Amino acid sequence: MTGGPRVYLAACAGLPSSDGDDDALPSALAAVGVDARWVVWDDPGVDPAGADLVVLRATWDYSERRDAFLTWCDAVPRLANPPDVVRWNTDKSYVLDLAAAGVAVVPTELVPAGTVPRWPDTDFVVKPVVGAGSRGAARFAPGQSAAAEAHLAGLHASGAAALLQPYQPAVDTEGETALVYFAGVYSHAFVKGAMLSDGAGMDPSGLYVTERLRPAEPDGAQRRLAEDTLDAACGLLGRSRGELLYARVDVVRAERGSPALLELELAEPSLGFRQADAGAALRFASAVRALLPERSRRRPVPATAPRPAAAPARRPRG
Ligand SMILES: Nc1ncnc2c1ncn2[C@@H]1O[C@H](COP(=O)(O)OP(=O)(O)O)[C@@H](O)[C@H]1O
Ligand SMILES: [Mg+2]
Repeated sequence: MTGGPRVYLAACAGLPSSDGDDDALPSALAAVGVDARWVVWDDPGVDPAGADLVVLRATWDYSERRDAFLTWCDAVPRLANPPDVVRWNTDKSYVLDLAAAGVAVVPTELVPAGTVPRWPDTDFVVKPVVGAGSRGAARFAPGQSAAAEAHLAGLHASGAAALLQPYQPAVDTEGETALVYFAGVYSHAFVKGAMLSDGAGMDPSGLYVTERLRPAEPDGAQRRLAEDTLDAACGLLGRSRGELLYARVDVVRAERGSPALLELELAEPSLGFRQADAGAALRFASAVRALLPERSRRRPVPATAPRPAAAPARRPRG
């Protein structure tokens, strides 16, 4: 461990150093003097106070234990994204908050436990309010209300609500576009193929449905929607965009070609570094460094060779 700023990249027991997508991050952070190491968020041997910043990365398993996860988030002295942001964003009913704030979202109905909605007469999706990696999301056709009701009952068994949305056909033809921002500034984008199709299967980790990703260049309408989404979320959270280490805005092409928000991910393992230019990891590292407490950034990073004992310690300016 060096004397420079220390960052923990939080993962989960099933994928303790992510799935490879974040492999460029530790060296990108080291290059700007930040010592990063992977930790498992609920490892009792890890003290989050030992880091100057804990960054949520591959915490895929939070959705099964959201309460415990949020309790842990609250106990981390310095967390990115911050605990209030994570609390709001890990319950997908935030989509309704964004709709109320004027963001064009995919039409979304909250289905509280114990209730059954009027099923749409087009294809639709039933998914958990707390879910990641496409787990628990299922697509149904209009004639499949019995199957949909059984799926809904399974989701409701935990006492949590579910979400009902019309299936967006553009997901099948062009996928969903994920726009990634670091500290509120656009970094890169990628396309994710349809997840609720027959070919989809679980990753061997069992933590998420295998994703088919490719790089993308979002158009102006997609970028404007993503920008508006971030502004609206920050308005609701009382935070500035720069306070969000990362944000992923997932948009789909809706009726009449205009984009609609499917998700805003603020506690998200999959940021698509492997789909992006090499600069994405450097932009991420820069955003991490900017969030470090001033005092930790001033801590001198030892040179690779030990300094002679008599040499005066160099102090950073300021
Ligand atoms: N309304 C929808 N229309 C089409 N596809 C959807 C819809 N909702 C979810 N999906 C599909 O299911 C996947 C997972 O749902 P999503 O809401 O993104 O939750 P998660 O947090 O698990 O990614 C999406 O990536 C998309 O492929
Ligand atoms: Mg998603």
